[in-house]
Amino acid sequence: MTSSYMNEMQTPQKVLLGPGPSSVHPRVLQAMSMPVMGHLDPAFFQVMDDVCEMLRLVFHTSNKMTVPISSTGTGAMETACTNIIEPGDTVLICRNGYFGIRLGDIAERCGATVHLMDTPWGHPVDPQMLRDEIKKLPALKAVGVVHAETSTGVLSSVKELVEVIHEAGALAIVDAVTSLGGHEVRMDDWGLDVCYSATQKCLGAPPGLAPISLSDAAMDVVAKRKSKVQSFYFNLKDLESYWNQTRAYHHTSPINMTYALREALRMMMEEGIDKRIERHARVAAGLRAGVEALGMDLLAEEGARLNPLTTVSIPEGIEDGKVRRALLNDYDIEIGGGLGEFAGKAWRIGLMGESARERNVFALLSALETLLNKEGYEVAYGASLSAAQKAIATYGE
Ligand SMILES: Cc1ncc(COP(=O)(O)O)c(C=O)c1O
Repeated sequence: MTSSYMNEMQTPQKVLLGPGPSSVHPRVLQAMSMPVMGHLDPAFFQVMDDVCEMLRLVFHTSNKMTVPISSTGTGAMETACTNIIEPGDTVLICRNGYFGIRLGDIAERCGATVHLMDTPWGHPVDPQMLRDEIKKLPALKAVGVVHAETSTGVLSSVKELVEVIHEAGALAIVDAVTSLGGHEVRMDDWGLDVCYSATQKCLGAPPGLAPISLSDAAMDVVAKRKSKVQSFYFNLKDLESYWNQTRAYHHTSPINMTYALREALRMMMEEGIDKRIERHARVAAGLRAGVEALGMDLLAEEGARLNPLTTVSIPEGIEDGKVRRALLNDYDIEIGGGLGEFAGKAWRIGLMGESARERNVFALLSALETLLNKEGYEVAYGASLSAAQKAIATYGE
């Protein structure tokens, strides 16, 4: 076999309807192609300040410590845990899917005594169950919860959960990787202590940055640690210095990703945060109606369904990989397969950020109708499209 590295890179245009990354608007890609500046150039400091100011608006917070971490979402999970948790601390992690499991793993690696509260996949974390669980535990430092579980398509009521967490005097660490920009996240009103996200989902930028925000109380906990944060790269004290204080070098910022995030956030401000959240809800209502018209079951509990991500049960007799491959190769549409417990059983359809458009719902449903009929799963042509069209047209009535 000959190597292909001397060939020009082929990057075919795909419609990204998986669990992330989502499609990126040309304006954002164009911003990324602007000349590289130095990370200590005052002109770049202005870009940084713009990004932080808009991130505060999206998180609905006045937290000074609101910055994008140079990493994907997992780096923000590490940042949250390594800075808040010290060896010997007791923490509780709510697990109702794959990313709760990951959060528990990261907390354990910080040397904490980690208690795990499991909820069956497909269901939200129950505040009363959390209250009962917390009562059984000794002094808790923090509780971790995933707002939008991308593996199951479930949204938990973070506002209620945080009330319970605060009754116990613990800090709330909230994963908003799939919710920020696609569902309401009100950091200050809901009293979140630490909240993080990632750029490649509802924020509309490529993968590569992970916004995080910490309340003053949470930053105080970081400042009063007995032990050094074990990660140099993710230690918030130095990051705070670079982003908000002396601008002292800590690591070389991913300059062009920062341009991308600035432009993606600017587009969100132009659209309006609430309008954007409503757009996610409207197209998700269309997708859900269309999928149900195809006779397929939704896996997330009714009333707790995510808008940016819908989990669909794969009909019996339908080969997961074959359909997803055909969607990708013949229709240029990417959807996601199941993760963990849902592997091979579910499709994960994302409508996030720039991908959350009516046209994508119709393109996907019409492709699915064709492919499912080809595979012997008979559906009436046009049925899912008209159900989706109706749900979208009547949304909010
Ligand atoms: C809820 C949630 N948390 C964390 C992550 C990890 O983010 P990343 O893959 O960007 O590292 C993801 C990624 O899909 C996610 O959906």
